Amino acid sequence: MNRKIPLFKVHMPKTVLGPLGKVLMSGYISEGDKSHEFEKNFQEFIGNPNVALVNSGTSALSLAYRLAGIGPGDEVISTPMTCLATNEPIMTSGAKIIWADIDKNTGNIDTKSLEGRITPKTKAIVVVHWAGNPVDLGAVTKIAKKHNLKVIEDAAHALGAKYDGKYIGNHSDYVCFSFQAIKHLTTVDGGAVAVKTPEEYQRAILLRWYGNARSSTSDPIKWSGDVLEPGYKMHMNDVNATIGLEQLKYMPKIIAMYKKNAAYLLEGLEGIKEITLPQTTVNGESSFWLFTIKLPGEDYRQRFSEALRARGIANGIVHSRNDAYSLFKSWKRSDLPGVDDFCSRMLNIPCGWWLSKSDVSYIIKNIKEVVKEI
Ligand SMILES: Cc1ncc(COP(=O)(O)O)c(C=O)c1O
Repeated sequence: MNRKIPLFKVHMPKTVLGPLGKVLMSGYISEGDKSHEFEKNFQEFIGNPNVALVNSGTSALSLAYRLAGIGPGDEVISTPMTCLATNEPIMTSGAKIIWADIDKNTGNIDTKSLEGRITPKTKAIVVVHWAGNPVDLGAVTKIAKKHNLKVIEDAAHALGAKYDGKYIGNHSDYVCFSFQAIKHLTTVDGGAVAVKTPEEYQRAILLRWYGNARSSTSDPIKWSGDVLEPGYKMHMNDVNATIGLEQLKYMPKIIAMYKKNAAYLLEGLEGIKEITLPQTTVNGESSFWLFTIKLPGEDYRQRFSEALRARGIANGIVHSRNDAYSLFKSWKRSDLPGVDDFCSRMLNIPCGWWLSKSDVSYIIKNIKEVVKEI
């Protein structure tokens, strides 16, 4: 009998139902005590007191670009191998995207491709920790410092990953998290932006709600403080935050399960010549939101993917190279060999908290059979 092993699964502990019911019936469901408590607990988890919650990872990125001062006339070096959420807000800011190449072995930005793309107009470098494996932040920071550029990390895949022994969320100017449905931690939808200073944190919490301080006064007549710059409506609410508070309690265990399953897969799939296993960056510790393998070529990947699916093992590419969308056609370039290679050969197989040891053994056994068959 075939099993059915999904590529993603929502982690929703039953213990969320009690607190959630209370908040829903409390008469107050917008941003309030629960949002503030979740923000504080999340800051403590990451180890950075300057983290502002928002209502999605996409909002976190938009806010980070705004805080970084990115706008018309600027150039931003970014990776095409990501979710559209990384790059569309750069475009809507009015800045121009300059595509960097990626390391064909990791899917992360190729730090060697950065310097040659920097011009006097360059404002920032945007990196994505593909699959939860940290980018070489040491190299990126060095280049950014030399050219006075901001660094924005898209850490949507990388909650619980570490670089230089510290959780992602402590290294660059801006680090953006997503709490979307299938991430390590979900609030259904939600996100956060980690910044470096209390001043930037204050600006972030103003910008996430129309540029105004939501709790500036309790006086019903002098209701609101002044507004100095236009903001957004991207704050978190107490319903999502209540889910987040409960989720956070499970995070150390959930992240450890992703890592443990990845270790089993790395051991069990070693030595299969058709399969290139994921590599972890030096000084990095991946949280393995994805387990990305590489196969000999595109046709082979198609056959391999179908054969695994026939055996009940879900798989997929998850993100499509952004530079191929017509939306970005004016910025197209032909010198992205790492993207060409990675994008045509990579495939993600299940690795998350929902796999038992026996599921992992089933995946390994079936992959060994499939490479012999196809
Ligand atoms: C790399 C990456 N960045 C950003 C996002 C956007 O996050 P959200 O869906 O919370 O807006 C996602 C996925 O959803 C993602 O995978």
